[in-house]
Amino acid sequence: MTGPLIRSLLLIWATLITRGSVAQDCGLAPMNTIKEEKVVGGVNATPGSWPWQASIHLNVFGTTIHICGGTLISDQWILTAAHCISVTTLSRWTIYLGRETQSGPNANEVNRTVSQIIIHPNYNNTLFNNDIALMKLNSPVTFTNYTRPICLANASSQIHNATLCYATGWGKLSNTTNLPASTPLQQVQVPVIGPKQCSCSFSSQVDITSEMICAGEANKGTCQGDSGGPLQCQQGGKWIQAGITSFGVPCARPEFPEVYARVSEFEQWVTDNVAGANVSFVLFSSSGTDPDNNFTCNAAASLVIPQFVVLSVVVAFQHIVT
Ligand SMILES: *[C@@H]1O[C@H](CO)[C@@H](O)[C@H](O)[C@H]1NC(C)=O
Ligand SMILES: *[C@@H]1O[C@H](CO)[C@@H](O)[C@H](O)[C@H]1NC(C)=O
Ligand SMILES: *[C@@H]1O[C@H](CO)[C@@H](O)[C@H](O)[C@H]1NC(C)=O
Ligand SMILES: *[C@@H]1O[C@H](CO)[C@@H](O)[C@H](O)[C@H]1NC(C)=O
Ligand SMILES: *[C@@H]1O[C@H](CO)[C@@H](O)[C@H](O)[C@H]1NC(C)=O
Ligand SMILES: *[C@@H]1O[C@H](CO)[C@@H](O)[C@H](O)[C@H]1NC(C)=O
Ligand SMILES: *[C@@H]1O[C@H](CO)[C@@H](O)[C@H](O)[C@H]1NC(C)=O
Ligand SMILES: *[C@@H]1O[C@H](CO)[C@@H](O)[C@H](O)[C@H]1NC(C)=O
Repeated sequence: MTGPLIRSLLLIWATLITRGSVAQDCGLAPMNTIKEEKVVGGVNATPGSWPWQASIHLNVFGTTIHICGGTLISDQWILTAAHCISVTTLSRWTIYLGRETQSGPNANEVNRTVSQIIIHPNYNNTLFNNDIALMKLNSPVTFTNYTRPICLANASSQIHNATLCYATGWGKLSNTTNLPASTPLQQVQVPVIGPKQCSCSFSSQVDITSEMICAGEANKGTCQGDSGGPLQCQQGGKWIQAGITSFGVPCARPEFPEVYARVSEFEQWVTDNVAGANVSFVLFSSSGTDPDNNFTCNAAASLVIPQFVVLSVVVAFQHIVT
């Protein structure tokens, strides 16, 4: 990607004077080689492709295990899913950035402990609604080609049906297959599924709210262990986070897309809670009209959901001494 990286020194200097801090650009991945048209599905990410991707680990009986994904949104804040925060004891959590595989070695990795956790106060109003949380790193990270912040979709964003985005994570490869620890971060290209079509799939059993966004197709989607990670869409040379992996019917079944927290609905909440940190919200705007507006649900064809789950790694938390 080129273009946004090119800035005059004068402009940077002016920013420093007016904002009084080091300038940063969100959503740039210098190592990412994806062209906007290229179709990729369920493949290894090359190192540095998703430099905001975090691996969130929980200490369970003295061993830290990957529980969820997350994203770096400033030099000191991670965005993730509320359902990932099963334990609020700060010392139990470790965040890894620049990680490629869970077994390592990871040449470009940095780690941090967590100094604060903020869960959305209305997370539990409706089933899986407002599935969003923030974790503050104990100290800021330095941005490199392997550790950089993503842009967040701002409150005016419109993301129409069939928009092609990418989901990333170290989650399961299928409902029954774990990702081998030596296998790199996975990326999959998935189409956004509009709210009418998504609500129709989940019928009356799960309320697909305006705080949710759906994406996925047959054999392409997120699975357990991907929760908290991003659904990210590229526009104007920047990667913009549209969703936070939340729940689904495991996994990537043709009749059910996966459901994500809709990031654009939380601009105010995130801004209010990051205590002045430089989190960048930018507009993602689909052109034309959303074909989902015309979608009509054939109620007779509504499906019975066999099982739906949150997409974090399932741990028997009741056995953990906190
Ligand atoms: C905040 O980030 C934006 C874009 O990512 C950048 O243009 C701006 O200079 C940054 N501001 C500060 C105070 O760092
Ligand atoms: C970051 O990646 C770009 C593109 O590959 C490269 O030109 C640049 O030298 C890299 N920067 C560092 C600090 O490695
Ligand atoms: C965190 O990174 C430091 C420095 O690379 C390393 O010494 C330490 O073992 C890492 N901690 C964990 C929990 O991975
Ligand atoms: C959901 O809210 C109810 C009522 O406030 C509370 O009793 C319950 O513990 C909450 N559940 C979770 C998982 O937070
Ligand atoms: C929405 O997008 C999906 C995935 O590309 C497609 O299968 C479906 O037909 C679209 N729906 C409408 C109403 O265009
Ligand atoms: C997923 O796997 C679990 C445990 O292996 C099983 O109970 C469940 O029926 C499977 N779900 C689907 C939708 O295949
Ligand atoms: C989103 O960004 C666009 C483009 O910068 C701007 O016009 C719009 O006002 C922003 N929306 C909000 C709610 O800030
Ligand atoms: C919805 O259907 C009407 C009538 O068939 C058509 O004129 C319109 O272009 C459609 N809108 C979209 C967004 O597809």
